[in-house]
Amino acid sequence: MSRRVVARAYGGPEVLAVVDAEAVNPAPGEVVIEVRAIGVNPIDYKLYSGACGADPDVLPMGLGSEAAGIVGEVGDSAAGPVGPISVGDEVIVYPVSESYADRLVVSGDSVIPKPASLPWNEAAGLLAVGATAVDTLDTANVGTGDLLLVHGASGGVGSFVVQLGRARGATIIGTARPEHHDYVRSLGATPVSYGAGLDDRVRVLAPDGVDAVIDTAGSDEAIDVSVDLVRDRSRLVTTVPGPRPAEAGFRIVGALGPEGMEPRKRARVFLVDLAGNGDVRVRVARTYALTEAARAHADLRKPHAAGKFILLP
Ligand SMILES: NC(=O)c1ccc[n+]([C@@H]2O[C@H](COP(=O)([O-])OP(=O)(O)OC[C@H]3O[C@@H](n4cnc5c(N)ncnc54)[C@H](OP(=O)(O)O)[C@@H]3O)[C@@H](O)[C@H]2O)c1
Repeated sequence: MSRRVVARAYGGPEVLAVVDAEAVNPAPGEVVIEVRAIGVNPIDYKLYSGACGADPDVLPMGLGSEAAGIVGEVGDSAAGPVGPISVGDEVIVYPVSESYADRLVVSGDSVIPKPASLPWNEAAGLLAVGATAVDTLDTANVGTGDLLLVHGASGGVGSFVVQLGRARGATIIGTARPEHHDYVRSLGATPVSYGAGLDDRVRVLAPDGVDAVIDTAGSDEAIDVSVDLVRDRSRLVTTVPGPRPAEAGFRIVGALGPEGMEPRKRARVFLVDLAGNGDVRVRVARTYALTEAARAHADLRKPHAAGKFILLP
């Protein structure tokens, strides 16, 4: 048997339950993962909140898109994107479905070797935010000499946009709560507080506006300020879908984009190498037992310490 977390209904964190599931053998091309750590992301609760639509046919709904663990079994002809997979390998799996579990059966295509230098918790929280950040930077065409505004620079995605954007040679202004300014500065951006007067505070640092904007906040304020400050509206990018950013001309990255998950899959090995070498940092804010997933989601929906939330089976 294995244990997994499911949403039994649409609603708040109270609809989550830990259930037992029959252990399934891997089919050809599949791999069994004994899970050590699971990354928590806002989409995990958005999907059962009803914010993305509600389809009773998908209940009970498994949650989660990333994890790290040890290969327990290898199905016939299963191979990873970077080579063979063996029992006992330490790996990261992304993108996968229903990763809130202590045992997963995943496609070999989602299995990336974990560097020994990368702790389990950081490995589990790396790829969903890191690959999204690469997608946003590519979509905004960020490179040397750009002045980039990042909304939500202390967040999971934003912290990677800052680190990777700096490595591309961009200068970055990042919005965050005052408590997170030192963290944003340590990542390589100049912090500014969001809230009333944001436009003026950014103007002090960017009198001629900015070259590009990456928004991970999705607030009306972030949209309005971005439209006002950017010199070329084709370089407005957001991770938060909605009618307002679409009307304002933002490009929205996501699985429903023209290339689907392919840009993110392509970014995985690069990101794992960077993290293994210590060239990017995954900050872990809190860990929870798998059985505490509901509490983790309740906390993630409130203002919280900067960094990833991780579930431990
Ligand atoms: N489209 C996609 O494929 C995709 C992929 C990944 C994520 N996302 C979405 O992107 C968003 C960010 O994800 P995440 O994992 O980075 O979340 P996160 O780690 O919770 O970070 C959220 C950030 O938003 C900031 N924030 C909160 N209220 C704000 C406001 N009013 N104005 C400006 N910033 C504000 C927070 O800053 P402080 O903590 O400093 O207050 C925090 O840094 C979520 O909506 C998520 O669903 C989309």
